[in-house]
Amino acid sequence: MSKITAAITAVGGYVPDFVLSNKVLESMVDTNDEWITTRTGIKERRILKDEGKGTSYLAIKAAENLINRSGVDPKEIDLVVVATATPDLLVASTAVYVASQIGATNAFAYDLQAACSSFLYAMSTASAYIESGRYKKVLIIGADKMSSIIDYTDRATCIIFGDGAGAALFEPNEEGYGLQDEYLRSDGAGREFLKIEAGGSLLPPSEDTVKNKQHFVHQDGRTVFKFAVSNMADVAEKIMMRNNLTHDDVSWLIPHQANLRIIDATAGRMNLEDSKVLKNIQRYGNTTSATLPLLLSDFESKFKKGDKLIFAAFGGGFTWGSTYLTWAYNS
Ligand code: UT7
Repeated sequence: MSKITAAITAVGGYVPDFVLSNKVLESMVDTNDEWITTRTGIKERRILKDEGKGTSYLAIKAAENLINRSGVDPKEIDLVVVATATPDLLVASTAVYVASQIGATNAFAYDLQAACSSFLYAMSTASAYIESGRYKKVLIIGADKMSSIIDYTDRATCIIFGDGAGAALFEPNEEGYGLQDEYLRSDGAGREFLKIEAGGSLLPPSEDTVKNKQHFVHQDGRTVFKFAVSNMADVAEKIMMRNNLTHDDVSWLIPHQANLRIIDATAGRMNLEDSKVLKNIQRYGNTTSATLPLLLSDFESKFKKGDKLIFAAFGGGFTWGSTYLTWAYNS
């Protein structure tokens, strides 16, 4: 019997309508379009403005888009994982609500949090369940309402992040397509450099934490940048070497969209031409858990059966990694 591999069989995505451009940010903080464009590559990002809508709204929209595009019956889904750093609620998993809302009534569901690497880790989870034969349809959704944790008076963070969601369905494949290899890492020394200080068990919410803006994301951008550049490039290069892939073999790089300079550095180490490097950072900014599946959703029509995709991500924690996956279908 041939080994079962775990392949992506459908994708979906969603971004909210409201566009926050660099021009508008110029009127909110001391910044300018030229600085943001040259330092990050971002031109605009999408924001979920509607009151009373959280990350689940984005996740449901992305999942519904996948269901409409593929025709999959939600009742056949075994597991729903929502990868997110911005759950609707701290207790009561966002994924459970999402699963119910999309009609995945026979599934169990939970959230997974590894900051910007969440989707990469969720791919690992989905694949392990499929390869073991335990489940047949695993839906993973990367979704973040970053605007809910951003201080729009802090120019170091508010120019970077946006809201969005993307989804991928994993199923067994007997032709050998799907996830081939992964190289996932983490290092707790990184938690000082990118975090939300308050609201968790370490520092529960109080009047002081609100006053001191400790419920917003803070990052030491320069330090995170240094670690991101070297680690994302390292793992991408390692996974190519371990699988005897040259830059000619690689069809597409699917990199986390945090900063165009980090993406370029990773592609440079892989010796990959720019036309193989997928990007939508200019339109969406950094949507944290959603960057990788939004790329899959936006560029699905370009992928051909057998294409070799290298994913790479780096995020808070620190967490980072690279995954090698072969595409299983022609759309
Ligand atoms: O996805 C999760 C992981 N996160 C990341 O990967 C983010 C990694 N970090 C970055 O992408 C970059 O560090 C940033 C985009 C956040 C910042 O770019 P940078 O080139 O590292 O800038 P910097 O922080 O070193 O700041 C350079 C200068 C400073 O001025 P001085 O000290 O040189 O006078 C900043 O005060 O730019 C100034 N600056 C700004 N100027 C205009 C910082 N933010 C802004 C701004 N507009 N928004």
